[in-house]
Amino acid sequence: MAERITREDALTREGFKHACHIMLYGDSSAKLFGKIPIKHIVLMQMRFDGLLGFPGGFVNPSKETLEAGLSRELHEEVGVAVSVGVDDHISSCLSQSPSSPRLITHFYIKKMSEPELKEIERAAVTTATDHGLEVMGMVRVPLYFLKNGGGLPYFLSHSFICNSRAQLLSALHHCRLLSQGELEKAVRQAEQMRH
Ligand code: GTP
Ligand code: MN
Ligand code: MN
Ligand code: MN
Ligand code: MN
Ligand code: MN
Repeated sequence: MAERITREDALTREGFKHACHIMLYGDSSAKLFGKIPIKHIVLMQMRFDGLLGFPGGFVNPSKETLEAGLSRELHEEVGVAVSVGVDDHISSCLSQSPSSPRLITHFYIKKMSEPELKEIERAAVTTATDHGLEVMGMVRVPLYFLKNGGGLPYFLSHSFICNSRAQLLSALHHCRLLSQGELEKAVRQAEQMRH
């Protein structure tokens, strides 16, 4: 588990690297198979290392603000300029991940329109310089439940970078995209299918 700290505290720590990542999401009226409402578009990405994570990356706060650095990373990874503000900041954590010691992870959430999200999906494979290199592609998170764990439970059973799985779950709760009961059910079902 990661330890929460404030944004201000995070910026006073010495000897830490900083990484900023963001959940871009919005409402959608689209229906899977013409009948199952997908309700929301939530974007993550398949990384170069085969792990799922959010778009974003390392930021050096002595050279750029956290939000300017995140915007720069988004331009590299999704191919469009997304303006990110301090108001979009959700949490800062001391990463307890053994693979990334002395790292502070800052998380942001930004709501966008369906056409804006579709434009990001297009640009991510056309203009993004990182496409096919550091980023293998954007993916939408399935938020529904199908038979036998299909949908969110299967998605959660994959492997995630650092604490991005916990960031996803807390963001779905924070934005009220799923109820607490639905989230618990998805986590429980995902646990049962892990090998
Ligand atoms: P380079 O351009 O190669 O330096 O990569 P990057 O700047 O895009 O960095 P990356 O996105 O890999 O993020 C930097 C570090 O943050 C990673 O080494 C992970 O430890 C961690 N990280 C990556 N993605 C996420 C994420 O979605 N959430 C969290 N909490 N941490 C992440
Ligand atoms: Mn089909
Ligand atoms: Mn990057
Ligand atoms: Mn990145
Ligand atoms: Mn980078
Ligand atoms: Mn890079």
